[in-house]
Amino acid sequence: MRAAIFNEVGKEVIDIYDDVEVADPGPGEVRLKLHAAGVCHSDLSAMNGTLPQPAPAVLGHEGAGEIIQVGEGVDQVAVGDHVIVAWNPPCGKCAACLGGEANLCVEIFFNIAGSAKFSRGGEPIFGFAGTGTFAEEMVLPQQGVVKIPNDVPYEIGALIGCGVTTGVGAALNTAKVKPGSSVVVFGAGGVGIAAIQGARIAGAAEIVAVDMVDSKLKDALRFGATMGVKPDELGTANAEINGPAGGFDYSFECIGLPETIRAAYDAARRGGTAVIVGAGSGAKNVEFNCFELFFMEKKLLGSYYGSADVRTEFSRLIRLWKSGRLDLEGMISSRMDLSKAQDAFDAMKKGEIIRQILTF
Ligand SMILES: NC(=O)c1ccc[n+]([C@@H]2O[C@H](COP(=O)([O-])OP(=O)(O)OC[C@H]3O[C@@H](n4cnc5c(N)ncnc54)[C@H](O)[C@@H]3O)[C@@H](O)[C@H]2O)c1
Ligand SMILES: [Zn+2]
Ligand SMILES: [Zn+2]
Repeated sequence: MRAAIFNEVGKEVIDIYDDVEVADPGPGEVRLKLHAAGVCHSDLSAMNGTLPQPAPAVLGHEGAGEIIQVGEGVDQVAVGDHVIVAWNPPCGKCAACLGGEANLCVEIFFNIAGSAKFSRGGEPIFGFAGTGTFAEEMVLPQQGVVKIPNDVPYEIGALIGCGVTTGVGAALNTAKVKPGSSVVVFGAGGVGIAAIQGARIAGAAEIVAVDMVDSKLKDALRFGATMGVKPDELGTANAEINGPAGGFDYSFECIGLPETIRAAYDAARRGGTAVIVGAGSGAKNVEFNCFELFFMEKKLLGSYYGSADVRTEFSRLIRLWKSGRLDLEGMISSRMDLSKAQDAFDAMKKGEIIRQILTF
């Protein structure tokens, strides 16, 4: 089968092969045929070494498809079901799962991330974060797929699989944005646009998008941002909206760089909330002084996979989409064949796209 593989960390090069194999589903596992995969910045970060991922690996962790085979003992899904891939599958049994923090479950995640389900010419090949949606077929534990109604297009399902759950969830679940509040979102890519939509759904009064790319600032307005500014214009916008003392009730960092994480902290008001969604490198640090951390009483919150439980969150997002409150079609910048995956990353590096969908 065809799959998009990166062979060397640090190179940002993706190779398409047509002779990749995937293992048969073992007990509790399913095989799915992918129909759509979204291109998330985390895939690029795996290639360039920002996020830890051994090579060679099939890229992709956003995807939706159809179950075509089930292993022994599979009872949650059946052949023919349409599903979204959940890159951090909840085991359903551990303290995190039982305590309402299913996104933090590592029981299955660490296991699948360290085992190679793909191979090529006998050489084992990992899947990014234990998944690997840039392949025609993949094998996952049944907890790694969530059933969706058959009338939900695969590309809509793919978006929900990472970027939308991450961004909307950051606003609704991590920050719990209150109606009437002021919000700033750094980075208007797929995740940032989803955070803007989450803030809009939560009833924020002002939503400012910050990005370096002009087209992104225009895009952001379509999804509920009330203003779009370049980084150096934020000070003025902040004072206009929040008064001379400045400060947003909530700030969301959806880029993953030290300078924008620091800027997101600075943009929150005293007592406000700064949410870090961007996935940055473990080798880079952000500085805070010991006085501001207590005196400003800002809540600095990490947000992982939208602080969401995929078992219920995916269907909530589908209901929001069906009711017209969450615009997912508008987030698709283009559709392209898997063989064009390199072009998708080149466009992402220029900051020109919200989400690109790979088809098979
Ligand atoms: N926390 C999680 O669970 C989680 C899940 C998915 C993705 N992520 C991370 O979220 C981040 C965003 O992902 P994405 O797919 O939306 O990326 P993207 O590349 O589509 O969007 C990033 C946006 O940030 C803008 N940008 C870059 N540098 C900037 C700067 N210095 N100032 C202002 N704007 C700048 C770009 O122009 C672009 O519009 C990535 O770090 C990704 O790895 C985190
Ligand atoms: Zn668990
Ligand atoms: Zn992602």
